Amino acid sequence: MAQNWTPNSWRQKPIQQVPDYPDLAALSATEAQLATYPPLVFAGEARRLKSALANVSEGRGFLLQGGDCAESFAEHGADTIRDFFRAFLQMAVVLTFGAQQPVVKVGRIAGQFAKPRSSNIERQGDVELPSYRGDIINGIEFNEKARIPDPERQLMAYRQSAATLNLLRAFAMGGYANLENVHQWMLGFVKESPQAERYRKLADRISETMDFMKAIGITSENHPSLRETDFFTSHEALLLGYEQALTRVDSTSGDWYATSGHMIWIGDRTRQPDHAHIEYCRGIKNPLGLKCGPSLTGDGLIELIDLLNPQNEAGRLTLICRFGHDKVAEHLPRLIRAVEKEGRKVVWSCDPMHGNTITLNNYKTRPFERVLSEVESFFQIHRAEGTHPGGIHVEMTGNDVTECTGGARALSGADLADRYHTHCDPRLNADQALELAFLLAERMKGGRDEKRMVVNG
Ligand code: PEP
Ligand code: CO
Repeated sequence: MAQNWTPNSWRQKPIQQVPDYPDLAALSATEAQLATYPPLVFAGEARRLKSALANVSEGRGFLLQGGDCAESFAEHGADTIRDFFRAFLQMAVVLTFGAQQPVVKVGRIAGQFAKPRSSNIERQGDVELPSYRGDIINGIEFNEKARIPDPERQLMAYRQSAATLNLLRAFAMGGYANLENVHQWMLGFVKESPQAERYRKLADRISETMDFMKAIGITSENHPSLRETDFFTSHEALLLGYEQALTRVDSTSGDWYATSGHMIWIGDRTRQPDHAHIEYCRGIKNPLGLKCGPSLTGDGLIELIDLLNPQNEAGRLTLICRFGHDKVAEHLPRLIRAVEKEGRKVVWSCDPMHGNTITLNNYKTRPFERVLSEVESFFQIHRAEGTHPGGIHVEMTGNDVTECTGGARALSGADLADRYHTHCDPRLNADQALELAFLLAERMKGGRDEKRMVVNG
């Protein structure tokens, strides 16, 4: 067990990004209430994810992590969850086919509510109000009352997470994810998209393979892996009072686990080694993510790895790199070298979203070609360094939104106003997410062919 650690030892440390709750007694009462609620996930599931990620860190698998930037109370509904899940499954099947490796599926969902902000204040015209910090903290409406942090919202976020997780478990285990449905995962609007034909062809090949397997007696009835899938949840562990309330001892191992989600990550703004977020995360046994932005030095990274994964356990730590398309070549190689030199076991994942945000026509957006370019560089750099490009971390939705420009439908700055729904950062729509998956699949296939040539040549 981590030394001198308790679920509340983070309270003794400096902390960034804390909401200004006006009624601290009400906050404590809510946290005490949450602490009596059932866990959302179980330690055994988190361990299962960790062992899948351990394989990824050793080059045998690929991590697909994605979902909303910020989940919202307003968008909570069965259709949104289903559309996200099937867009995600489509990406996963494209990647599995490309990589010919298991794809570890982790949603940014069922808990992704709290948001770090670059400014504490939002200004509109002459009016200044506290910034929106995610539905678990305050309201997005631009008025004074909505922006007051309200502890009751934590209970709402907990209940929404439980309901979302319940449906996701049913989809993953109850037949929806059956590979025999590979054609049905096509979303209405994606059917008309330039990706549709590519996806249909791939789905035809999978169906043909399934028919062949059926002929020799391998069916989804006798092989659960054809009809079920492991799907895990994740979010940024930003609101530590909420996380602490859901931190529980696992009765089998005696270890502490965050039970708010299977994997949690530390944001780029809250990764100071002597601060509260690192303190909380070092003591729980879940798989962890660490966002790595341009300001992180090689030594700084090793210091954080020492704190978060002192035993060098494979699968414990995923480094989620988010430099920007024009900075990745400068920063990624030095971090890879620092980690390799020290022999640390990590999963390298690429977040091509957070370093590529620009403002266009007063909308925060991300040009799709920059997203693709960062992913391309990520793959090239890992090939050059001889390390495994282990995963991707994206903000995406199954809905037909217009938040990121570009892609095969060439969304323009003028299109952004049409369906811009995100509560925080711009997400890839299902069409763009699928396009990204096809590109990745091609790169992974390229990598495989290259390896074969080395082996055979
Ligand atoms: C996020 O993932 O939504 C986020 C805020 O990322 P980062 O910490 O990398 O800026
Ligand atoms: Co974001």
